[in-house]
Amino acid sequence: MANTETVIAVGIVGFGHLGEYLAERIQREGASAGLQLAFVWNRSKERLREKLTSDLILDDLTEFTQRGADLIVEVCHPDIVRDFGERFLCHAHFLVGSPSSLSDSTLEGRLRCTAELHGKTLYVPSGALWGGVDIQRLSERGGLKSLLVRMSKHPSCFRLAPPLHHDWSEGEGRHVLFSGPVHDLCPLAPNNVNTMAAAALAAPDLGFSGVTGEIVSDTELSQYHIVEVEVTGHDGFTVTTMRRNPAQLGAVTGSATYQSFWSSILVCKGHGGRVFLC
Ligand SMILES: NC(=O)c1ccc[n+]([C@@H]2O[C@H](COP(=O)([O-])OP(=O)(O)OC[C@H]3O[C@@H](n4cnc5c(N)ncnc54)[C@H](O)[C@@H]3O)[C@@H](O)[C@H]2O)c1
Repeated sequence: MANTETVIAVGIVGFGHLGEYLAERIQREGASAGLQLAFVWNRSKERLREKLTSDLILDDLTEFTQRGADLIVEVCHPDIVRDFGERFLCHAHFLVGSPSSLSDSTLEGRLRCTAELHGKTLYVPSGALWGGVDIQRLSERGGLKSLLVRMSKHPSCFRLAPPLHHDWSEGEGRHVLFSGPVHDLCPLAPNNVNTMAAAALAAPDLGFSGVTGEIVSDTELSQYHIVEVEVTGHDGFTVTTMRRNPAQLGAVTGSATYQSFWSSILVCKGHGGRVFLC
């Protein structure tokens, strides 16, 4: 139970799977969690009008300041982070649901600077990343030598840009579609690499160019996604984790990730002008 004296007004940008889940949950449980809905924005308005009262709908995103949100949650598209991230951070804490957008080092630098300048926190949700805070601590101590995140899913669960999407037609079995720097993978699979992007942000000494991302298509995985994290430190230190994330066929986002986002939002009460994994 949160401190009820501090109510955080939350603006949600994007009303797809995650946005609708979070808006509904804030309306249902927000009072006991110290959260209230300031606004919801989406590019198309039909679904918003079906599900929300008109006072909660923000028609024009450039007018977000009028709603006085303490925290803005982007669950939309990397383009929105690029176009609005700095503006959001001038006025509110900002949870970036599409951290793959930060593989653009110029954008990452600008958001870090704006957060610092305005004393607002740029929150990165851990999503399906297990052990992100441990990775961050190891990285801060200079003890991280290498980091690999491997995401294995049924081919119907990937949304890939060319040339990767041609590999879908290879048929039954397991195929490594990409193995290399997360920086190079983000533009090819922006919706599938947010967990890897969170890992890169947790390990700034390796960053998007130093963290290895692997995506594997596996027709055996009809009921869950697998996320493996391989951490290597000095003097033989290693940690390997494997997470099975239940997911329906065709689902880009595993069902446990919705709960993980909710848990992340509960942390976003303000942690100063910096990047914070939550
Ligand atoms: N951090 C994580 O672990 C994690 C996990 C799942 C999803 N995500 C990311 O969160 C975002 C939302 O995920 P979702 O599953 O709710 O997606 P979704 O496709 O269900 O919803 C996205 C919404 O944004 C809108 N949209 C799409 N492109 C847009 C654009 N260019 N400009 C404005 N609006 C646009 C769509 O109309 C839709 O309403 C995606 O970027 C996704 O990659 C991150």
